Amino acid sequence: MSEPAPPVLEKQRVRQVNLMSFVEQAVQVAEIAETLQVAETLQAVEALQVAETAETVQVAEIADATEIAKAAETVVSAKLHTENLDLFYGNFQALHKVNLAIPPLSITAFIGPSGCGKTTLLKTFNRMNDLVEGCRIEGDVLLDGDEIYGNMDVNHLRKRVGMVFQKPNPFPMSVYDNIAFGPRTHGIRRKGDLDEIVERSLRDAALFDELKDRLRHNALGLSGGQQQRLCIARALAAGPEVLLMDEPTSALDPASTAHIEELAIKLAERYTIVIVTHNMQQAARISDRTAFFLLGEIVECDTTAKIFSKPGDSRTEDYIRGRFG
Ligand SMILES: Nc1ncnc2c1ncn2[C@@H]1O[C@H](COP(=O)(O)OP(=O)(O)OP(=O)(O)O)[C@@H](O)[C@H]1O
Ligand SMILES: [Mg+2]
Repeated sequence: MSEPAPPVLEKQRVRQVNLMSFVEQAVQVAEIAETLQVAETLQAVEALQVAETAETVQVAEIADATEIAKAAETVVSAKLHTENLDLFYGNFQALHKVNLAIPPLSITAFIGPSGCGKTTLLKTFNRMNDLVEGCRIEGDVLLDGDEIYGNMDVNHLRKRVGMVFQKPNPFPMSVYDNIAFGPRTHGIRRKGDLDEIVERSLRDAALFDELKDRLRHNALGLSGGQQQRLCIARALAAGPEVLLMDEPTSALDPASTAHIEELAIKLAERYTIVIVTHNMQQAARISDRTAFFLLGEIVECDTTAKIFSKPGDSRTEDYIRGRFG
C-alpha cells in the first residue's frame, strides 16, 4: 500500500490535472473553430462555384439569345428568304430542304459542282421554273417577306427580280430597242422617257460611253462582253430590286470578266445581287456571302471570308480547294 501523498504534492497534482483538462478543452475549442472555419471556407468556395456556374449559364444564355436574335434579324431583314424549300422535276428532287436568307444590297455567290441545283434555286426567285412542265415546289420562297408562290403577280415579280443568263442573249434588234423592249411592254411610250431609261440603264451597265454612237446598230454585232453588259442594262431597265446572274462571265475573256465584276460590286450599292459562279476567285473577289451547294442541298452559307478561310464543313473545304467538282 502506498503512502498518501503529502498535501502540497497532492494539490500540485490536482492543479496539473486541471491544467491538462483546460489545455485539452482549449485544443478542442481550437479544433472546433478550425472545423468551423474550414466549413465556412468550403461554403465560400461552393458559393463562388455556384456564382461562377450562374455566370457561365447567364453568359451562355446571352450568347444563345444573341445568336437567335441575329438569326431572326437575318431572316426578317432578308431580301430573299427560303424556308424548307423542296423542288421536284417530275419524280426527281432537285432541291432538298433549302433554308437560305439573302441580305439586301449585297452580293451572294452560289458555288458547287455541276448539277447540284444552283440554277434551279436561282430560277425559283423569279418563278422561271413555272415554265418547266412537271416542276413542283414545296416550302416557302419570300421576297421582302411576301410569298413569291402565293398571290404575287408573276409579271410584277419578274420586274422586281431580273435575271441575266450564262450566254448573252440580246434580242435581234438595235441596242436601243433591246433596252426599251421591257419598258415598252410595261406601257412606256413617250420617246423622251424611253431615251432617258435607255441612257440610264446603259450608264449603270458601264456601257453608255462605248455605245452612245451605236444605239441604232444591231446588238448581235457587239462583242460577247458588250452583249453581256447589254443584257445587264436590259435587266436594269425594268427597275428591278434584285439581279440574278447565272454564270454571267463564263463565256467572257478576263478583261470583260473584270468589267462585269466591277459592275456587280457597284450595282450592289443599289441592288441585291445573287450570282452563280464556277470561278472560286470570282466568288472570293466580289461576294459578301457564299452558299455552297451539293446534290441539291445547301451545305453551308456564310460570309465569303469565313467560307474561304474557315468553312464549317469539310466538304466545302474540299470543294474550294479543288479536291472535287
Ligand atoms: N428542266 C429540267 N427538267 C428535269 N431536270 C432538270 C431540269 N433542269 C435541271 N434539272 C436537273 O436538276 C438538277 C440541278 O440542275 P441545275 O441546272 O440547277 O444545276 P446547276 O447547279 O446549275 O449545274 P451547272 O453548274 O452545271 O449549271 C440536275 O440534276 C439537272 O439535271
Ligand atoms: Mg447552272
